[in-house]
Amino acid sequence: MVGGEGPESYNQNSSYQRALLEAAKEKMSEAISAKLSLDLISDRFNVADFGCASGPNTFVAVQNIIDAVEDKYRKETGQNPAENIEFQVLFNDFTTNDFNTLFQSRPAGRRYYSAGVPGSFFERVLPKESFHIGVINYAFHFTSKIPKGITDRRDSPL
Ligand SMILES: C[S@@+](CC[C@H](N)C(=O)[O-])C[C@H]1O[C@@H](n2cnc3c(N)ncnc32)[C@H](O)[C@@H]1O
Repeated sequence: MVGGEGPESYNQNSSYQRALLEAAKEKMSEAISAKLSLDLISDRFNVADFGCASGPNTFVAVQNIIDAVEDKYRKETGQNPAENIEFQVLFNDFTTNDFNTLFQSRPAGRRYYSAGVPGSFFERVLPKESFHIGVINYAFHFTSKIPKGITDRRDSPL
């Protein structure tokens, strides 16, 4: 993806991908409300975005999750999540991703700590049990190498 914030940057040319986030928001909130166990919502809650690019969609993706988790917590405990939960967001992408633009353009007023996680998500990039919810928007269809079945007729692509 083209870094920076210029006219050809991913930052300025990702409204199509953003539309998917908007379309999925309600379903995602419903799933969190119905399936996320309250026991998992403790004082520290980690969200990971795999294939975050340099923004701005990743901020929408993680905020949608945080809003849904806070909403569930508020409804089921009657308590204020801002007083009880600290969120941490793990932003993952290739080492060549423009993490500088990403971190410089984080939204003001966000209620989460941030960390960059460099490397391909087809490899292990985080230790076990290091995040509660992971999101991947418009990134999983990228293959890091040509599947063997495509280059060798003897192999099944499945
Ligand atoms: C089309 S962009 C989507 C970015 C963002 N998720 C969004 O919704 O706008 C795809 C991103 O996935 C990243 N990506 C693709 N394959 C990846 C991999 N194997 N590991 C980590 N990031 C990957 C690319 O570098 C790129 O930044």
